Amino acid sequence: MIARRFLILLAATGLAAALAPAGETTAPAGPQPVPERLVLSLTPSPATSVAVTWRTTLPVGAASVQVARAHAGSTLADEARLVPARTEQVAADASTTVWHHSAILERLEPDTLHAYRVGDGTTWSEWSQFRTAKAGPAPFRFLYFGDPQNGVKEYCTRVFRAGFASAPDSAFYLIAGDLVTTTIIDELWGELFYALNPLGRVMPGMNTPGNHDYGQFLLRGQKTKMASPLFRAHFTQPENGPEGLEETTYYVDYQGVRMVSLNGNERVPEQMAWLDRLLQDNPNRWTIVMMHQPVYSTGKERDNPKLREALLPVYDKHAVDLVLQGHDHSYGRTYKLREGRRVDDDARGTVYVVSVSGPKFYRVNPQHEKLMAKIDTGKQLFQVIEVDGETLRYESRTVTGELYDSFTLKKPARR
Ligand SMILES: [Fe+2]
Ligand SMILES: [Fe+2]
Repeated sequence: MIARRFLILLAATGLAAALAPAGETTAPAGPQPVPERLVLSLTPSPATSVAVTWRTTLPVGAASVQVARAHAGSTLADEARLVPARTEQVAADASTTVWHHSAILERLEPDTLHAYRVGDGTTWSEWSQFRTAKAGPAPFRFLYFGDPQNGVKEYCTRVFRAGFASAPDSAFYLIAGDLVTTTIIDELWGELFYALNPLGRVMPGMNTPGNHDYGQFLLRGQKTKMASPLFRAHFTQPENGPEGLEETTYYVDYQGVRMVSLNGNERVPEQMAWLDRLLQDNPNRWTIVMMHQPVYSTGKERDNPKLREALLPVYDKHAVDLVLQGHDHSYGRTYKLREGRRVDDDARGTVYVVSVSGPKFYRVNPQHEKLMAKIDTGKQLFQVIEVDGETLRYESRTVTGELYDSFTLKKPARR
């Protein structure tokens, strides 16, 4: 959820075209504040809480969420607990005001199927279901998508559906940035939530901002480089990272894995100092980092030596297991690396992946080919990653379901 100080920034920029708001739901006859763009997000306490965000194109009196332990009967509304939501007015474009609502559902039972719906007491969404995390380390799997960005309704819908169909029991999904190509065009956000339905309503997500989710926006009268107000408004992500990078740099401990989102768009050295401190005291066996910009580029003529200089010492020091990236609109997966060189499979080291879910592809950049176990381009992909005790299994699949790449990491004990 966006902080209050960011409100109405888009109207002030005057950059957005006057486009009609677009949601994935069809409004019934008559002016009713129908919930749309409903989405769950991971919180720092995934065993006992989940974040819910949605919007309406009309104001509502008292936005709220109903949540209950799920069961097969039809009495959920009678048993549900009512959780009030925060409502914030947001300029969807230069001439359209919308209302974004968010709530963090707390005091949930671990490892329990819950049912929830959102609304205003009169107009409600459908009931959806999600499962909370187990309280301690336990096997699970999750979905990883590279950049959607372009042709989001036309082409990304099928990749989110294929991922969901392939691993419907995933604990959560993550998207490695560049959610839409022009972040100030509200209609493109409508496409994203169309494409994400039902995944986003039944499984919490974890997003990191790409360069296309960033821009120059007015903040207290000053043009400031920051995550787009629409990125901030559409999700309610953790705020446990460095100050000023709320909802973009954060971490979640999930059943024995420390999942970290880094914001590759600004203040990277400061984030690495934060990550260094964070990983010094890490009770989890596994560490997985997501950042949009890759340290070993796989697309076009790109290269990021400054990122390597900033990131690798911390990744190497703490033996981050897996780094999930986007940006290069192609696929690349390294061998296990340390200090920029391949190491044995059972040594301490890090595997770096670039993937893409959307339909835009860049030609392969071979400059780091020697470090790559696989490098390729031209396919819409999703990944299923499973963590089970000392084993991490990774599978990349094409949108049509073929196994595209896979590997296994073993980590007998925390080291
Ligand atoms: Fe991109
Ligand atoms: Fe990008």
